[in-house]
Amino acid sequence: MQLWLCPLIAFLFGSIPFGLLIAKAKGIDIRQHGSGNIGATNVLRVVGKKYGITCLFLDALKGLIPTLLGITLIRYVGASEAMTIKPLLSKALELPADLQWKAQLFQVFTGLCAILGHNYSPWVGFKGGKGIATSAGVLIALMPAAVVILIVVWLLLFAITRYVSVASIGAAAFLPILTIAGSAFHGKLANGTWNKPLFAFSVVIAVLAIWKHRSNIQRLMKGTENRFQPKSKRNA
Ligand code: G3P
Repeated sequence: MQLWLCPLIAFLFGSIPFGLLIAKAKGIDIRQHGSGNIGATNVLRVVGKKYGITCLFLDALKGLIPTLLGITLIRYVGASEAMTIKPLLSKALELPADLQWKAQLFQVFTGLCAILGHNYSPWVGFKGGKGIATSAGVLIALMPAAVVILIVVWLLLFAITRYVSVASIGAAAFLPILTIAGSAFHGKLANGTWNKPLFAFSVVIAVLAIWKHRSNIQRLMKGTENRFQPKSKRNA
């Protein structure tokens, strides 16, 4: 398989508008309800909990699968044709330094394409969603330990504010800090072996996520953002 196909496959995977399809199966055009977003939050809000959770799972999966494919190919197929690395590689980390960053770049670019596919899906007029679940899927493949911390950050922000958008924006903003802190923790900043493409990727997807939440930010400033209230308070 040609390596360049991986980012393309990732984009196509990412572009599947699961939220739109799930809601459509229930006779609802999700773009006309709630926040109008095709993501899991709006599906949960408009269609129901189990549909939202299904959407979350599928949106994450479409980031995870192509990124894992990219990581596996670059490691085991070894890019012998596309990147003229011979013999076949067992691990990207064992690459000579001048090729290592290319492998890292390939991995994060594949993940980025999945997120771009979701955010700018051609099947929904290049509008798409906000990319949080798909980014989470990509990050599970690239830096699983960081995802655990990001989930904790997300849950804390959500518990405090009850705004999904605030939790998503906060976790996105925290990602580059986490990436650089992880490199520092492992002593990689000091010896210069840190994964620069991964850091650049984390900055790009954080900015992208915040940019995609600009309508939420406007609503937050106006005080009209949708807030998830606990059931006890809703019924009070
Ligand atoms: O991941 C999207 C979430 O942060 C906000 O969704 O529907 O409230 O705009 P929504």
